[in-house]
Amino acid sequence: MYLTDEEQRILDGKCGDPQRVALRVLVKLGEACGAERMVPIVSAHLVASSYQIAGEAGIEIYSQLVAQGARVAVQTTSDPGSIDFARWREFKTPADYAARQVKIAELLDRMGVIPTWTCTPYATFNLPRFGDHLGWSESSAVVFVNSVIGARTNRLAAYVDLCAALTGRVPYFGLHVTENRRGQVVFELTPDLTADFADHYFPALGYLVGQTVGDKVPVIVGLRQATFDQLKAFGAASAASGSVALYHMVGITPEARTLEEACGRQAPAERVVVGRREIGAVMEQMGGVVDGPVDVVGIGCPHASIDQMRRYASLLEGKRIHSGTELWVCTNVVVEEMARKMGYVGIIERAGAKLMVGTCHNDCPLGAWGFRRLMTDSGKFAYYTPTTVGTQCVFGSTEACIQAAIAGKVERS
Ligand code: F3S
Repeated sequence: MYLTDEEQRILDGKCGDPQRVALRVLVKLGEACGAERMVPIVSAHLVASSYQIAGEAGIEIYSQLVAQGARVAVQTTSDPGSIDFARWREFKTPADYAARQVKIAELLDRMGVIPTWTCTPYATFNLPRFGDHLGWSESSAVVFVNSVIGARTNRLAAYVDLCAALTGRVPYFGLHVTENRRGQVVFELTPDLTADFADHYFPALGYLVGQTVGDKVPVIVGLRQATFDQLKAFGAASAASGSVALYHMVGITPEARTLEEACGRQAPAERVVVGRREIGAVMEQMGGVVDGPVDVVGIGCPHASIDQMRRYASLLEGKRIHSGTELWVCTNVVVEEMARKMGYVGIIERAGAKLMVGTCHNDCPLGAWGFRRLMTDSGKFAYYTPTTVGTQCVFGSTEACIQAAIAGKVERS
């Protein structure tokens, strides 16, 4: 691999051991993936900020790095942790577990990581621009910045993201290269589906697309508009059920003004038609509505925006969550503060719902709750929580989720 003089100096240990080891990892990765050079990055985002992911090994690695004086070289933010730092007792988190997460937070702080604790760092202090090269992990964030912003990052693994943060570089391969950003599988939505495309069809379509394409680049044709939150929900689901790191929506996302542009002026390898029947089938698979009690309702995955907080507040105003059901709203501290100022947090909490800030159902140890049935409006939660929380899952719209939390049960009607 070609290395600049500066990179060679780092590899020779002239900039300290943390950078030397980090660059060595990146060079090995690049060589394995056919990269011919490195590319400077604008920012990094770290997924092993969570104790659930980092574990004791993470504490050991971060402690060593801090002892060696390691500092991140570019703007770097943290993914959700494994506790809500302010409310972990309310979520029945064991004290020794919380202490391990606090230890990770202290170590990341000493390396200069911005403690965003969110999977939506692009909505806080880490907003890339079109064409920026990045070193990010967190599948839902990676797919958002690649697809909706047009920045460029591969889906980095835990600790590879840290190597990128420490050196300010990543190997130039995969989605950093223009030719690899071409759409490969075209999804044509039928007019009967697009005529009345409900909000919760976005995560359902994302789930279907992810299952179908794996790690290929999908192109969606037929939608005329999509909001920030709908694009976020679609991408997170596609990155969970598959390994999608970039999608194009023709007429909506920045590298897809036309189908030809989305496909790099080449014929797509495959075409898939999606209508109401296919969307209905995938929603059944994600957790079709079966009447019965619900223990916990999880919304705000990926972390809720201020618009979503407004919507939750309007659906909960003057209502009361059922005594046998928990409604947990996941978001980050930036949105929490703004939502508090705007009165939404008060409405949500008065209804008996709990805010889960800087973490989520997937990242916390929830065994003490004994939940058996979870309802969600998120494709990513629908994919993961049966394994991570150990519950049966029901998928529905945001309105249906909140209605179920109020009624304490889900009803098909
Ligand atoms: Fe974020 Fe947790 Fe969902 S990390 S994307 S809220 S599973």
